[in-house]
This record gives sequence, structure tokens and C-alpha cells, in this order.
Amino acid sequence: MEEEKKLLHIVTFGCQMNKFDSERIAGLMSATGYRLTNEVNSSNLVIFNTCCVRKHAEQRLYGRIGELKRLKKNNPNLKIAVGGCLAQSEGRKIQEKFPYVDIVFGTHNLNDLPQLVEKALVENTKSSLCETSSSVLDSKDLECVIRKDKHHAWVPITIGCNNSCSYCIVPYVRGKERSYPKEDIFEFVRNLSLDGAVEITLLGQNVNSYGNDIYGKPEFSSLLKEISGIDGIKRVRFTTSHPKDLTDEIIDNVSRYPNICEHIHLPVQAGSDRVLKLMNRKYTKDYYLGLVEKIRKNIQDVSITTDIIVGFPGETEDDFKETLEVVEKSRFDQAFTFIYSSRKGTKAETMKDEVKYEVKAERFNRLLCLQNQISLEENKKYLGRTLEVLVEGSSKKDSNILSGRTRNNKVVNFEGSFDLAHKLVDVKIEEAFTWFLKGSVV
Ligand code: SAH
Ligand code: SF4
Ligand code: F3S
Repeated sequence: MEEEKKLLHIVTFGCQMNKFDSERIAGLMSATGYRLTNEVNSSNLVIFNTCCVRKHAEQRLYGRIGELKRLKKNNPNLKIAVGGCLAQSEGRKIQEKFPYVDIVFGTHNLNDLPQLVEKALVENTKSSLCETSSSVLDSKDLECVIRKDKHHAWVPITIGCNNSCSYCIVPYVRGKERSYPKEDIFEFVRNLSLDGAVEITLLGQNVNSYGNDIYGKPEFSSLLKEISGIDGIKRVRFTTSHPKDLTDEIIDNVSRYPNICEHIHLPVQAGSDRVLKLMNRKYTKDYYLGLVEKIRKNIQDVSITTDIIVGFPGETEDDFKETLEVVEKSRFDQAFTFIYSSRKGTKAETMKDEVKYEVKAERFNRLLCLQNQISLEENKKYLGRTLEVLVEGSSKKDSNILSGRTRNNKVVNFEGSFDLAHKLVDVKIEEAFTWFLKGSVV
């Protein structure tokens, strides 16, 4: 009898850490005979890798899981698994809400997934496994990965987070911060380079605090420097930087080593010291502005991006004006802006939130308007210049339009043949928009 084809469709929500986990899930499942497919309708295993950082993300997800009911009806042999941060926080409640979900697995249980799938297939039983204690890191975690992009690789250096920003659910669903040993990371990156990756992004909820939990307390700045020396890796990126832990050595290394990219994602979250304190961010507005100044002074052509939360419980108009002030003074290249969303179990959940949603939405729009104007002005500074672009691929609409990123992470679109994909090319910038640049190959 011909063996049934095992086709796996993965849907990923949330941050880069989830993107990496999905690549690991792909690796783990392919070792048991599954092949990845983009076609949900023809798959026999669908895995949702979920995020619960804001309510909106969660609600959208519930909508998507709901859509799978029809698929399961048409194909009763289809198995459905829900993993990631929402699964970790909700556990079997997901199956109570959606009885056709076969497997729920938490963020500490990725390695158990092949067995859970096997059990679902053989015994036809439902299971949910969401351990609450932080899993131990294993160098094997880094071995079994099927990357989405040939030229780029995610490299987790820490998992979890030891900060306790009062609004944030991440430490609850990802656990305490754990660092991979330097040697494991080096070996992973060396193998990635042999496998054709030219750009890597070092990942952690707070990359700067790498090493605090392991022997010898290696520092992030030295890890960064040593990684930049690995053959074949042309671009090293890292995210996310917490302002309180971004040291002078890190800034110095970015400016000194040619393959470390000039882009720092530095979430500010809010402008007023009162709100920053309530958020438990552990820095002040002046400290943050001083840091931005130092980065700009030391790193030529650096781009600084940020995350901002609008409408934290009790945020006044004056508090908000200080957020606008920080945006004006920092001149961020891009800002990811969010309306505060109360998360179960966090400290901020218990804070009195008397700000009306309409007020928050109005503030959000003002912030967006200001930031869009700044992004456009910053992008215009590159008009007429020639920038090195790593080509990611072609536009979906027109295969002759290629898209890539500059060293400082700006998206550049230009005409060219697909042969240039995954190569570094020089592009002269001719037009600037809020979200991207346009140019021609020189
Ligand atoms: N570790 C990273 C990313 C955390 S989640 C960091 O420290 O920056 C990504 C962003 O989501 C955060 O920076 C924050 O701006 C936003 N965020 C987190 N919790 C939120 C909440 N409860 N409501 C609104 N935005 C939130
Ligand atoms: Fe959340 Fe703060 Fe940790 Fe980022 S640093 S993951 S915002 S607790
Ligand atoms: Fe979301 Fe989990 Fe990342 S909650 S932002 S996917 S760590």
C-alpha cells in the first residue's frame, strides 16, 4: 500500500522568536516524514504557532482557528495542533472552545510535538501539554531547523525574559531568561554560513542581557564581536535591545565591525517618567534621549526604530505629550505603535484605567501622523545616495520588481532580474516614501 503523503501547513503569528520556533517545528516534523506545504486545503497536519501579546492578536487568532472547523469537516483525518504563547497561556481551554483541535502544546514543549502528533494519529486521542516551568536549553534545539529564507537565519541567543515590564505577558508565557552557551551559538552560525546564510539576526527579548545566567557571564558585546568574525556571514543584526542594557561596548562594536549592521531597535514604550516608572522600564526620558544621542554620534548612518504603547492605565494628556516629545527629538526611522491592551496576570491589569478608548485612539492617530512625517523626512535623506541592498526576492505582483534591505534595515524596491535574489547589490536611491525607498541598480 502506498504510504499516505504527510503534508504540513504551519501558520505563524507574533514575533521573530515565533518565526524561529516555526522553523524548528518544520525541522522536527520533517524528521518524522512530513513535508511543508503552502496549501492548507491539501495538508493533513495544520499547526498554528500563536501570539498573545495583545488582545487584538488573540482575537484574530481565535477567528483563524474557528475557520479550521470547515476543513476538519471536509477531511476528518486532518490533525490540528495549536502551539506558541497563546497555547501556553490558555492550555486545554483552547480545546474546550474549539473541540476539533487535536493537540495543544506550550512554548516549553516543542520537542514533544512529534510524539503528540503520533499519539493523535495512532490513538486518535486529544492531548494538551503546556509545562509551566522553564524548559532547559539544549544545543540540539539549534540543529533541527528548516529555514524559510536561504539567505537569512534567525539565531536565538536567549529564550525568555527576566524583566517585569508591568504590561507584558511575555515572561509568563516564555519563562525565565536562559542563554545558549557561546560555543553552541558559534557552531550554529558556522553551520548556517556553510548552508548559504549570509545574514543572521541574533534574537532575544532583551539580547543585551545575554549571558547573565551562564558560567563566566559572557557579555553580549563580546559575543557580537566574535560572531562578526565568522566567515561568510556578511550581515549581523540583533534584536531587541533594552535601553537599560545597551552598553557603550555594544555601540562601539556596531560602529567598528563592518558586518554588524547599523540598526538598533530600541523600544522606548512611553515618554513620561511617571508612566515609565509605572511600566517598570527602569530608565527615564532623559536617559533614553541621551542614549539616542550617543548612538547617533558614534554610528554613521544608523537607523533607530522603536516600540511605543499609547494609553497605558492613567496616561494623561501631559504624559502623552512627552511621548510625542521623545518621538520628535529621537527622530525614529520607524516606530511600531500599539494601543495598550490589558493582559491577564500582569501587574498593569490591576491598575486603574480611566482613559476612554476614544481618547487612546485619538492619541494613537496623532502619534502615527507625527511618526509618518518623520519616517518620510528621514528616508528622503537617502535620495541620490547609493546603498548596499541584500535582495530578498521579487514583488508578488511583478516579478521584475525586486525588494531588499539596506544595512540599516530600510526596504528598497528596484527593477532587476530574479537572478539577483539573495545577492548584495548597489542601488541608487531615486524616490523616498514613508515605508520604503525606490531606486535603480548601478
Ligand atoms: N522584548 C521586546 C518585545 C516585547 S513584545 C521588548 O522588550 O521590546 C513587543 C512589543 O509589544 C513591546 O515592545 C510593546 O511595545 C508591545 N506590547 C507588549 N505588551 C503590550 C500590551 N499589553 N499592550 C500593548 N502593547 C504591548
Ligand atoms: Fe516584555 Fe519587557 Fe521582557 Fe520586553 S523586556 S519581553 S516588554 S517584560
Ligand atoms: Fe507574541 Fe510570544 Fe512573541 S506573546 S510577541 S509570540 S514571545
